This record gives sequence, structure tokens and C-alpha cells, in this order.
Amino acid sequence: MPTSRVASPRRYLVCAPRHFDVHYAINPWMHADVPVDTALAGRQWTMLIEAYREHGHTVDHVPPVPGLPDMVFAANSAVVIDGRVFGSLFHAPERRPESTAYETWFKAAGFDVYQPESVCEGEGDFVPTGRYLLAGTGFRTTRAAHHEVQEFFGVPTIGLQLVDPLFYHLDTALFVLDEDNIAYYPEAFSPGSREVLARLFPEAVIANRDDAMAFGLNSVSDGRHVFVTPQATGLIDQLNARGYVPVPVDLSEFHKAGGGIKCCTQEIR
Ligand code: ARG
Repeated sequence: MPTSRVASPRRYLVCAPRHFDVHYAINPWMHADVPVDTALAGRQWTMLIEAYREHGHTVDHVPPVPGLPDMVFAANSAVVIDGRVFGSLFHAPERRPESTAYETWFKAAGFDVYQPESVCEGEGDFVPTGRYLLAGTGFRTTRAAHHEVQEFFGVPTIGLQLVDPLFYHLDTALFVLDEDNIAYYPEAFSPGSREVLARLFPEAVIANRDDAMAFGLNSVSDGRHVFVTPQATGLIDQLNARGYVPVPVDLSEFHKAGGGIKCCTQEIR
């Protein structure tokens, strides 16, 4: 019998997709010649924000900056634990100016921002669980940044090697369900990293390739509700069977940039 899952209220930072588009290609999902329906993207994104509010979460907004089409992916701007902000140093030069825009917001909201020396992309590759900070590397965030983030937070940081360019950020292949458990797509990881995940999370929800390709692992959970793409049908069945409550939100327009629900959501812990 599934246990009764408990939601905890969260604070999310988001950035409206007013200037969202695909102008350059820095991951295999992006094709600068495929048009983005900006109006549809705006409607889909608004549904996500409404779903968060309806489930009791607080949503803060960073003002979008013209010329920064990926700024909508708020998760990449930082990782925040206990009110301490570890900023980002983007891999792609096109995205580097986003850091300043987010830093301005954090400072105005009363947070200090630590500027990392090594390339890293916030919650794209740094995923806090109850006991650890899971840290991806392979395409964006460097191993040096794993050391830097561990020194900063003092949280045991577990390095995980990503091996498939389609899953270039850790948050495209893995998400946190609650304090104790995660869901992930094993094939996105090196054999050793798969073993690490299996040791740490023996009860994890294991997703298949279809769910992963639909951005099912780019989900957000409050411990009970899982905001998840409706295309990840296998994953949704598994979540139901485990007593979670899937809340489907379709961000298909953002898949053209290689992003989904979690990418659009920075959690302020
Ligand atoms: N186009 C963006 C990039 O390639 C997408 C970022 C998606 N964000 C994420 N947290 N995975 O950088």
C-alpha cells in the first residue's frame, strides 16, 4: 500500500519567457532554424506558475532581460541552501550575462551571492537531496566546481558522470521526490555513477528512455505533488503507484531549447 505523502510549501524563483527563443544551439535539442511559438510558450509557462500557486507554493519573479533567450531557465542561475546562494558561471558565453541579472535580484531580495570560480550551472547540475548534494559533470559543470560547492555549503557532494549529450544537465536525468528518494534515468550516467545512485537510493523510481526523452526527469516535487510533463506516461504510472500525486504541466515549447519544468524553476531553500 502506498504511504500518504506529505507536501511542504516551497519558494520558487522564476523568469517569464517574454524573450524566450532559440537563437543559438548549445545542446542537441536546440535548432536555431525551428521557430518557437512565443505566445504558446507564454501560456504554457503561466499554467506552471498557476499550478505552483494552487498547490500552496510562493513564486518570485526575476525581470526577464531582452537578448537573453535562455533566462527563463531559472534553475541554472544558482543553488540555494539555507538562504545561502552559490551563483553560476555559465559554460556558454551566450548565457554568461544571465548571472548578473539573477545576482541583482538575489541582492535586492536580501541574499549574499557567492560567485564561483569554476564553470557551473546552478540547479542544472547541483541537486540537493535530504543528505547530499548530487553534482553532475560531463557537459557543463566542472569537477572543480564540485569541490568549490562542497567547500561553500559543507554538504557532502556526490559527483555523478553524465554520458549522453541529450541529458547534458543532471536535472534532465534525475529529480528529487522527497527527503529520502529520487527518480532517475540510469542510462544517462556512467556505470560507476549508476552504482553510486543504486547504493544511495535503492528505492529510487527508475524511468525509461521514453520518459527521459519527454523531459519526465525534469520534474519538480513538493514531497507529495509532482509537477511533471504529461508525456512521461510510464513515470506518471510509477509515481501514482508510489503514492505521489502527479500534476501534469505541458511545457512542450520549451523542449525546443532543451528545457522543461525543473529548468524553469529555481528553489529558494
Ligand atoms: N537552452 C538551455 C541550455 O542549454 C537550456 C537549459 C535547461 N536548464 C536546465 N536546468 N536543464 O543551457
